[in-house]
Amino acid sequence: MRQLKWVALSKTALSIADVQIISVNGKRLVLVKHDEEFYAFTSKCPHAGADLANGWCSKGYLICPVHRYQYHLKSGRGASGQGDYLKNYPVRVSGDQLFIGFNKPWFRFW
Ligand code: FES
Repeated sequence: MRQLKWVALSKTALSIADVQIISVNGKRLVLVKHDEEFYAFTSKCPHAGADLANGWCSKGYLICPVHRYQYHLKSGRGASGQGDYLKNYPVRVSGDQLFIGFNKPWFRFW
């Protein structure tokens, strides 16, 4: 079982409208709120590197604004025929706080 480091976001993260860029744990992510669920992904589209800041959701997918490739909100998997996926991060809501999970490194330097 993989170990996660949970990083808390500011409480305003819960009130995002739809798609928003955030910086957390040294990474630039896209935070998505859709049907009262939250999802977090890397902010660059795997197709050609477009910024997903202006993306939108449709039918359970995050849509890239440049060539309209679609990525499933729950898995990050590209729509049929794309053969790619968008790296996703686990999101947890606890009370009025939102947390994003990052893999802990398997090694450590002292
Ligand atoms: S860069 Fe996102 S679909 Fe092409």
